[in-house]
Amino acid sequence: MMQRNMNLSEPVTTELLTGPAMAPFLPDLARLRMRVFRAWPYLYDGSASYEGDYMAEFAASRTAGLVIARHGNAVVGASTCISLVEEEDHITTPFREAGMALDRVFYFGESVLSPEWRGQGVGVAFFERREAHARSFAGVDITCFCAVERALDHPLRPPGAVPLDEFWRKRGYMPTELQCTMEWKQIDTPGKVAHRLRFWTRSLV
Ligand SMILES: CC(C)(COP(=O)(O)OP(=O)(O)OC[C@H]1O[C@@H](n2cnc3c(N)ncnc32)[C@H](O)[C@@H]1OP(=O)(O)O)[C@@H](O)C(=O)NCCC(=O)NCCS
Repeated sequence: MMQRNMNLSEPVTTELLTGPAMAPFLPDLARLRMRVFRAWPYLYDGSASYEGDYMAEFAASRTAGLVIARHGNAVVGASTCISLVEEEDHITTPFREAGMALDRVFYFGESVLSPEWRGQGVGVAFFERREAHARSFAGVDITCFCAVERALDHPLRPPGAVPLDEFWRKRGYMPTELQCTMEWKQIDTPGKVAHRLRFWTRSLV
């Protein structure tokens, strides 16, 4: 809930954290993932136990970076990245099968920003800070993320929903042939269902 004395004109600031400095903010990342990904197009019905496992693995990663967006003391957004070398098989397999060296590629896990703070450039800052972190590793020259693919006539698609494709293209990303499958419980399903996601990439050189 927004504090009564919160100064709305104060800008949202971003910073990239690594290693043990990420730990205090992992509960914020879990909270934001569960809130923001509940909406279209992810429709993710997150569980605290899954989020806990995900956070523990992320925190232990050597190459992980966490960007946090703050308004005053409140964490209003978060975004993650990690070398593909440290990612799980379902993420790396399409790249292996395409013959790409995993140590060239940095994977951007998520960007989650509370709706009330959108449209102020925080999403752009999430990309810039993660790309700067990726560049700090010798040999990394590609960044990527994957996005869920939804049918245009999906019954839960809100009227007027705008895909983020243009936003991503403006950041230099292009959709590729590479795809992966991820399972999660959707808000309208009793259990987990498989979702197809497409990888988008950009060259850092
Ligand atoms: C993705 C997200 C972080 C973007 O945050 P944001 O701070 O609102 O984005 P910005 O203010 O930096 O937008 C930058 C530019 O993209 C444009 N943009 C933002 N959302 C857009 C959309 N849905 N479609 C087209 N353009 C969009 C803005 O107009 C702006 O353009 P400009 O620079 O020409 O003015 C935010 O929308 C979000 O959390 N979405 C829900 C979660 C999600 O889908 N995450 C991505 C996958 S993990």
